[in-house]
Amino acid sequence: MATSRVWISAACLALLVFPSLLSPALAEEEEEAAAAAESEPSFVLTLDHSNFYDTVAKHPFIVVEFYAPWCGHCKRLAPEYEKAASVLSKNDPPVVLAKVDANEDVNKELASKYEVKGFPTLKIFRNGGDIIQDYKGPREADGIIEYLKKQAGPASAVIKSSEDASNLIVDKIFIVGIFQEFSGEEFENYIKVAEKLRTEYDFGHTSEAKLLPRGDPTVKLPVVRLFKPFDELFVDFKDFDVDALEKFIESASIPVVATFDKDPSNHPFLIKFFNSPNSKAMLFMNFSGENFDAFKSKLHETAENYKGKNINFLIGDLDASQGAFQYFGLKEEQVPLIIIQENDGKKYLQPKVSPDQIATWVKDYIDGNLKPYRKSEPIPEVNNEPVKIVVADTLQEVVFGSGKNVLLEFYAPWCGHCKKLAPILDEVAISFENNADVIIAKMDATANDVTNEFDVQGYPTLYFSSSSGKLSQYDGDRTAEAIINFVKTNSDATSQPDSPHSAKDEL
Ligand SMILES: *[C@@H]1O[C@H](CO)[C@@H](O)[C@H](O)[C@H]1NC(C)=O
Repeated sequence: MATSRVWISAACLALLVFPSLLSPALAEEEEEAAAAAESEPSFVLTLDHSNFYDTVAKHPFIVVEFYAPWCGHCKRLAPEYEKAASVLSKNDPPVVLAKVDANEDVNKELASKYEVKGFPTLKIFRNGGDIIQDYKGPREADGIIEYLKKQAGPASAVIKSSEDASNLIVDKIFIVGIFQEFSGEEFENYIKVAEKLRTEYDFGHTSEAKLLPRGDPTVKLPVVRLFKPFDELFVDFKDFDVDALEKFIESASIPVVATFDKDPSNHPFLIKFFNSPNSKAMLFMNFSGENFDAFKSKLHETAENYKGKNINFLIGDLDASQGAFQYFGLKEEQVPLIIIQENDGKKYLQPKVSPDQIATWVKDYIDGNLKPYRKSEPIPEVNNEPVKIVVADTLQEVVFGSGKNVLLEFYAPWCGHCKKLAPILDEVAISFENNADVIIAKMDATANDVTNEFDVQGYPTLYFSSSSGKLSQYDGDRTAEAIINFVKTNSDATSQPDSPHSAKDEL
């Protein structure tokens, strides 16, 4: 199907996969702000804080795009969205497309109310806003039209013939409820789940299992059969509790081992993989290299072993993984490598792994026998500029172990505000050059892991740690005067200012 193809471009995927990159990007791209020229009449309604609620309340089905004028993905979506709006305006029932400039101050409350975390974000509002769902469809006109037509129709399609079944159950996840009658608690619960998850999965129902392409045609009813284009190809489930059913669908739709390569048909499964709160075990290697099959089958075997144990598995092709390598600070020479990332950011790494080592290494991880891995730039050999360079491997020592008053900037090399701050920080550092108690430092937070004491949501982020270890974030003016003042006011006096190790030695 063409639909899932355009949903994620490479750049988008990088953001989805490595969401921590997203917020700084949002904070920084403001600089690119360019006013878009509004001209021709549009089928897309323009909403803002003043008419948003009234408009949504009036419509049984309305889609709202939250966008920012500077966002490249939004600009690419705009003509597609417009085209879809024009076609869908003639749909029965009508499907209305709208947009909100979430960059406008007056609309920021709306954006935060609907948890808009990146641009563009599309939401579907049903029943005058009673039901709000994330849009999870394609981003090109035909795909948007097809997806929204389906979204505006019934949550579960009736399957009356094997043709219906073979038209609906194609190369993606499809869930079918098989019931003697389309009534009763089990059926109602099934429809409830279908309504809740419909933006993400396709649902159908039938009274005859024999119409379906796979599975036991004489199975005892009712039953839910989930079809998937990977692993065991279908699974039956008989618990009609709403929560149980929802959990089953979520977990059955993640492949035992997700594949990360350039094939876009894998993207929907990757998104599930990365959105899961489970630990993520990722094996990166050259798919065209030797031994691929051995790696794949060993990883699969291991993954089967840990099914349901809160750890998901992925195999990634070196060719598609530059983003991941940069994010984790990995090098091509280290492949085949396996890395585990926990939800709290803790990581474990084994470079140059062999197929036979996979199972024991994962077991060691589960048993708590591995030491975490930290991404760090090398410790600089020369570090004699006024602003000192800190890397992950020296972070703790400088900030908490030096017994000094330390002002530390977390920056990103691409960040414009950081570039503007650089000469100011130089000026601050020079003004303290003769004060052995004060260190002005910076760390590239994209090349070094930031530990949990620091909450770095955007760049630049400035932290100050007094010599007695009191940590605070600096959010005052970004002028040399204000920063110098702050450092002076918040510094603890050390007892022997001329000895660099004084405070530490005395503790
Ligand atoms: C992967 O291996 C193939 C075959 O040995 C080689 O031609 C290719 O350059 C390798 N790809 C990378 C990214 O190293």
